[in-house]
Amino acid sequence: MNNKVAVVTGASRGLGAHLAQVLSEEGYTLALGARDLESLKSLAEELPGKVFPLALDLSDPGSIINFHAAVAETLGPIDVLINNAGIGIFKRLEEFSDHEFRKIFAVNVQGAWQMTTAFLRDLNEREGMVVMVSSDVSTRVFPNGGPYCASKFALRALSRTFQMENPAIRVLELRPGAIDTYFANSVPGAKGKDGFLKPKDVAETLRYALALPKHIRLEELVLRSSEQEPEY
Ligand SMILES: NC(=O)c1ccc[n+]([C@@H]2O[C@H](COP(=O)([O-])OP(=O)(O)OC[C@H]3O[C@@H](n4cnc5c(N)ncnc54)[C@H](OP(=O)(O)O)[C@@H]3O)[C@@H](O)[C@H]2O)c1
Repeated sequence: MNNKVAVVTGASRGLGAHLAQVLSEEGYTLALGARDLESLKSLAEELPGKVFPLALDLSDPGSIINFHAAVAETLGPIDVLINNAGIGIFKRLEEFSDHEFRKIFAVNVQGAWQMTTAFLRDLNEREGMVVMVSSDVSTRVFPNGGPYCASKFALRALSRTFQMENPAIRVLELRPGAIDTYFANSVPGAKGKDGFLKPKDVAETLRYALALPKHIRLEELVLRSSEQEPEY
């Protein structure tokens, strides 16, 4: 154990579960959040360290308040916050309903903003780290990906603003290309996932970031599978 506490959102599957694995191996006590509490509990049983699975719906501000209160009461101040949870819906811009558009921004942008704000005092006091899992599409777009890309551009803007306003903490924008997860299945044109990044590989970059001395601020990290065409 290293006496440090980390929070991971969207840890019920995919990249979030692998990020939780790395943090647990590194000795962090974990609070894991997602809507699927049963999957979080199963993961908690497999991980080596102390893990607290908690229900969290990032599209519901009240759920974030409850999550923060439960973490504060059970674990005290936190050192690392991983804003990993994210959703995507992929179709032409004019085909989006108002509800779908708002939902993407509620989870991917507003949820990450509210989570970070809730834990900001802890993170400043403990000179902690925030990892915003955006995407390589936080600086580019693709057809049918409008609101998703826009949400990741927005998350990039929030990452940098949080960093400028809070010099005591380190904010890393983690920007993977396509990863072999449930999410990737929902992207049109993603036929088969051969050649995608593996979630474990992406999670290993967190181990590297955590090991850096405090005087180094890793501000963004872009990684793509070398088996895919470069896209910029
Ligand atoms: N897969 C890719 O190709 C790729 C590439 C670049 C970046 N990313 C980013 O990586 C992150 C993780 O994605 P993934 O590929 O691991 O996707 P995933 O397998 O679909 O997992 C998404 C996670 O987000 C959680 N989540 C979704 N809606 C939520 C809500 N309202 N409240 C709380 N948690 C919610 C899900 O848990 P519940 O359903 O249990 O709530 C799940 O644990 C996302 O931010 C995604 O945008 C993915």
